[in-house]
Amino acid sequence: MGFEHTSVMAKEVHEYQNLKPGDICVDCTLGGSGHARSTIKTILPNGMLIGIDQDMDAIANAKKVLHPFEKNIKLYHDNFSSLPGILQSNGIKGVNSILLDLGFSFNQLVNGKRGFSFNKNEPLDMRMDIRTSLTEYLSPRTANFPALQACPGIHPPAATQNHRL
Ligand SMILES: C[S@@+](CC[C@H](N)C(=O)[O-])C[C@H]1O[C@@H](n2cnc3c(N)ncnc32)[C@H](O)[C@@H]1O
Repeated sequence: MGFEHTSVMAKEVHEYQNLKPGDICVDCTLGGSGHARSTIKTILPNGMLIGIDQDMDAIANAKKVLHPFEKNIKLYHDNFSSLPGILQSNGIKGVNSILLDLGFSFNQLVNGKRGFSFNKNEPLDMRMDIRTSLTEYLSPRTANFPALQACPGIHPPAATQNHRL
């Protein structure tokens, strides 16, 4: 059982994508795979959906909820800035649609102690890609805030301590 994300403007996205069977489309921000689940049905039986998210929870969830369509999807735990390389590695020269639904997902907000919540008292983190080192991610943002530097696990390297926000 995966997690859900109520997709925004699903009908409008569907209309603007204007996809048909056999098309190749990219979802750069899979999140809860809400858009991807409706998109994939329009490109079957031989289309391809390339799904990207820098949050590994989103990719794990996509593997579950998009499992029935596994022959028609390729999933990448990556930043969408890697898209040109991903297309090249698949020998794809052009696509029919690229979707970017920017922001954070419902899962990031409410589950998993990610530090995105406005309501919970949880560690300040806010990394979408937890492979990024917390120190590396936070040090330029915290260098001039001694109170933040005092948080457990945040140790800005000396070289970044004079950075200004
Ligand atoms: C609003 S959610 C997407 C929801 C999705 N369209 C759906 O219907 O379920 C945004 C997602 O974009 C991802 N994201 C944000 N910036 C990203 C980036 N630069 N590269 C890859 N994924 C990114 C986040 O991790 C999050 O899962």
